[in-house]
Amino acid sequence: MTPLIAPSLLAADFTRLHEEIDLVNRSDADWLHLDVMDGRFVPNISFGMSIIKAVNGICTKPLDVHLMIVEPEKYIESFRDAGADVITVHIEACPHLHRTLQQIHDTGAKAGVAVNPHTPVQHLEDVLEDIDLVCLMSVNPGFGGQKFIYRTLEKIRQLKQMITERNLSTKIEIDGGVGLQNAAAILSAGADVLVAGSSVFRAEDPLQAISRLKQCGQESLLV
Ligand code: DX5
Ligand code: ZN
Repeated sequence: MTPLIAPSLLAADFTRLHEEIDLVNRSDADWLHLDVMDGRFVPNISFGMSIIKAVNGICTKPLDVHLMIVEPEKYIESFRDAGADVITVHIEACPHLHRTLQQIHDTGAKAGVAVNPHTPVQHLEDVLEDIDLVCLMSVNPGFGGQKFIYRTLEKIRQLKQMITERNLSTKIEIDGGVGLQNAAAILSAGADVLVAGSSVFRAEDPLQAISRLKQCGQESLLV
């Protein structure tokens, strides 16, 4: 299984944004992951739709927008207009998750649900059919460069089983602390998409880091 690789722009050098996006365009990456933080749902503030709109103008890869914000339903259409192809909301921020997923689908975007480390994957039981992507947080959201929480591997296996039993094509994305040291284990547990911030943009050779993550799909068969 060849995984999808989604470099996270949060770890890029913002003074050289154009070059960093050009690099992603030239790479084996499949998506570009964009972390939106509001200082309320998470204790950090990143960027919003105007930056995403500018990125959309120069990025040739689909934009995977991860909303770490409260009341995301207020901004779904704006993020879609800015160029989001996948819009992911947090289960912990959505009291009416089913309605929010419908709202995302109505815009024509793919709908993702992100799950914090403390939230059991079983909480997705009644909406799994309505989700294109589950983003399992393998760190507490808010910052790049944190350590991978290994309990996530068990959550991947449980979620994969739920998806397989129902014959769904929901993708499992892993976000936080992903790198060459753990990618094969994550993929053999059942993940489909790897988000990678620091391990790509802080690598000596980011193009090679992306290619090597992509090749981990082959290695994972041996784990
Ligand atoms: C964390 C973000 C991640 C972050 C990953 O809140 O959702 O996407 O950019 O960064 P690394 O790969 O450095 O852990
Ligand atoms: Zn993210």
